[in-house]
Amino acid sequence: RETLKVNKLNHLEIGGVDALDLVKKYKTPLYVFDKAYIQKMCNTYVNAIKNEYGEGKVLYASKAFSCKEIYKIVKSLGLGADVVSGGELYTALKAGMPASDMYFHGNNKTPYELDFAIKNKIGTIVIDSLEEIDLIDFYAKKYNVIQNTLIRVNAGVEAHTHHYIQTAKQDSKFGFSLSDNSALDAIKKAKSFTNINLKGLHSHIGSQIFEAESFEIAAEKLIEFYKKVQNELNVEFTELNLGGGFGIYYAADDKKMKEPDYVNFIKVISTAIKNACNKLDVKKPFLVIEPGRSIVGEAGITLYTVGQIKEIFGIKTYASVDGGMFDNPRFALYQAKYTAVKANEVNADSLKKYTIAGKCCESGDMLVEDAMLPPLTNGDILAVLSTGAYNYSMASNYNRNLVPPVVLVENKKSKYIVKPQTYKDLIRNDV
Ligand code: LLP
Repeated sequence: RETLKVNKLNHLEIGGVDALDLVKKYKTPLYVFDKAYIQKMCNTYVNAIKNEYGEGKVLYASKAFSCKEIYKIVKSLGLGADVVSGGELYTALKAGMPASDMYFHGNNKTPYELDFAIKNKIGTIVIDSLEEIDLIDFYAKKYNVIQNTLIRVNAGVEAHTHHYIQTAKQDSKFGFSLSDNSALDAIKKAKSFTNINLKGLHSHIGSQIFEAESFEIAAEKLIEFYKKVQNELNVEFTELNLGGGFGIYYAADDKKMKEPDYVNFIKVISTAIKNACNKLDVKKPFLVIEPGRSIVGEAGITLYTVGQIKEIFGIKTYASVDGGMFDNPRFALYQAKYTAVKANEVNADSLKKYTIAGKCCESGDMLVEDAMLPPLTNGDILAVLSTGAYNYSMASNYNRNLVPPVVLVENKKSKYIVKPQTYKDLIRNDV
């Protein structure tokens, strides 16, 4: 991967910085992000939308990794943000991201969050329920604004990794179905309120998707539905938001994704929309996409120090590290696969199979199963790759472990973007 290299010392290097130097300076466990990779991905999407489609906007799905610095980086490259809670919105505002560049998602935004968002002049709210429409109109009136909105729908395409399925009936806590009258009813309701401006629809078909075809089908279905809305409700939409979900490389089963692969997603989506619009005589909408994982995922690694090694003869060898499910719960939650690297000796003649375990009091606290690594001993530095998305953002203080700090690497320099927690932080709110 371009962000990672093996240097002359046979050490892992990220963004031009030796992982062992980072460990010396910042200790472990440590999240490290390569700014150049994040910038490259942002530019890739922004240019792809411009070149392949025309009018559109890229939103960074900040649930993947949220802290002040990431909003600053994506903002500087022309992206907006997708936020899903008052907390993400607050963080983005504090980082200087204009509220007008933000889209607010969620199947159960609280009245407090809607009040907070509308008071701060959030750009767009993505409506997820009928009740929410009343609340949005109420707060829009309170602050005397006409609130821009989209309605979240289920396109009937569910995609995950290399598979997708088309379903007629959806079982999802998100959005309105296109297969019965629910989406039409929501559109009618939103249209009946004076302080709501409905721009179009939003659909997110899943995450960690490698097949462009699933986006193509979703795009076609949505434009067909735009036509239906025109015919039946005499409403012309101006915007279409197709969500995120573009896959990244974690481990051997995944496709190695390169810039042209991401451009291809946008190309396929663009062609599908343009063709459907031409065929059905629908006005080409402003296109919004919301990638999260693919912007930050491969930009990040986590560095750990190896502690106990436990060899159970004839069964397996556990190597425990000073992190675990509190900094990366994705194995425990999804049996997610990762690639591990011995950072202080990346390549070696003989490899041994390890299960990398975390330090939490829980048998399921693992990070990587069956990692083939040079022999490990206490004190070795282990890197887990592709941890930039949904790791820090899903971290916890389970067992009262400290959430590791986050360091950003750029031009061979490094700096904290999230400082280390301390034990004092753990009891700060204890009464
Ligand atoms: N837009 C919407 C409305 C979403 O629900 C999501 C992700 C995204 C955009 C961004 O999708 P991405 O490009 O990051 O795939 N915690 C899980 C992932 C949950 C994703 C939820 N929605 C994980 O660790 O894999």
